[in-house]
Amino acid sequence: MTDDKRSAERVGGAVADMLGSWDPRMPIETRLFTDPVVHRAELERIFHGNCWHIVGHVSEFGEEGAYKLHRLGEVPLIVLRVQDGVRAFVNSCPHRGAQVVRGTRGKLGSLSASFKCIYHSWVYNAEGSASGVGRRQGYPDDFPMGEHCLPRASVALVGGVIFASLGKNPPAIDDYLGRNLVGHLNRLYGSNELQYLGVQRAIFQCNWKLYVENIYDSYHAVTLHKGFKLMRLRKAAPQIDDSNILRFGHYLSEYEVDLPDRIQLANPEIFEMRSRSDGVSSHLISNIFPASQLSQQLEVLALRCVVPRGVEATEIQFHVYGRKGDAAELREHQLWQAANFLGPQGLINLEDAAALARLQVSMRGRSREFDGRGGLRFPARRADEKAIDNFYGAYRRVVFESQSDGGAA
Ligand code: FES
Ligand SMILES: [Fe+2]
Repeated sequence: MTDDKRSAERVGGAVADMLGSWDPRMPIETRLFTDPVVHRAELERIFHGNCWHIVGHVSEFGEEGAYKLHRLGEVPLIVLRVQDGVRAFVNSCPHRGAQVVRGTRGKLGSLSASFKCIYHSWVYNAEGSASGVGRRQGYPDDFPMGEHCLPRASVALVGGVIFASLGKNPPAIDDYLGRNLVGHLNRLYGSNELQYLGVQRAIFQCNWKLYVENIYDSYHAVTLHKGFKLMRLRKAAPQIDDSNILRFGHYLSEYEVDLPDRIQLANPEIFEMRSRSDGVSSHLISNIFPASQLSQQLEVLALRCVVPRGVEATEIQFHVYGRKGDAAELREHQLWQAANFLGPQGLINLEDAAALARLQVSMRGRSREFDGRGGLRFPARRADEKAIDNFYGAYRRVVFESQSDGGAA
């Protein structure tokens, strides 16, 4: 037996032991943010399981045949635009497992063109089936080529937003999201006029759950973020009474900002609303469990994908959208606000990155629980802590109570 296999079995056994002994009422303690065994269980049950994850928006793809690469947990995906929608394949050759496509995005010359694996020249068509193999003469005439396929992920489209799931039985997407979120997805992203402006990526030095938890935590919005304080952000009231949001562990908060006439900054333009003359606007931030986010803040419409990169690092992808008819000056302003203020390298996220790195350092210490995550001894009191509890309620159900093929809460 190889060392790798022994190690995989050890991890598999440890996950099984941990799940077997888990008390679902257990508080959220520090090892959930540092333990590779917990991380393995999360990958299997959340990122490779039945939950839905945003992997992009149809406006990112020009025409059919355009594709992008993404990943769910550790599993690489090819997301391909076809005439009647979008397909997603696991980017791993069924022959001996090589990654078939590299890079970030590309386009098949036509839909009869193929993805070709460099290792032994097997090729796959837009259905994901093998349509050719290298050195064909080495195989029998009746070799069932078409039976060798790139594994498919399930795909669902809501308002042009592309969701994917690797689970065997993901719930119907409308049930998973609920009417409220479906309505917001259609309203914000459902227009054919949406134009993809690009993506900003950054690696945060924290476990993925700390980044997500930060979205649920409206408490910190005006205590940590000086920019939101200057904007006179009217306190977000999370919709924690929405039964669907409660059941699946999502988060949704709408709020307003009331920009003061004068802001004491060298360049206050960073806050300006160019498409709204009164300076008052509606903002929305939402997390779709486990780790996909919608946001409309200032002039920036975005989707965020939160991708774990090991136990203590998390990639944030901040995809930004405008409208086809937007004036060049507005477009420039949107990109400026996205890059410098709201995106993962902007002012707000730099503050988050600093706070979250401090949390992660603290998680490595002696195992303990903290007041603000609804430990048994400290039931949540603030509305935002109830929202965080809701996330961890769904988390417990998916990681510790679902079947091993991965269950949605
Ligand atoms: S691993 Fe892809 S063709 Fe052999
Ligand atoms: Fe924040």
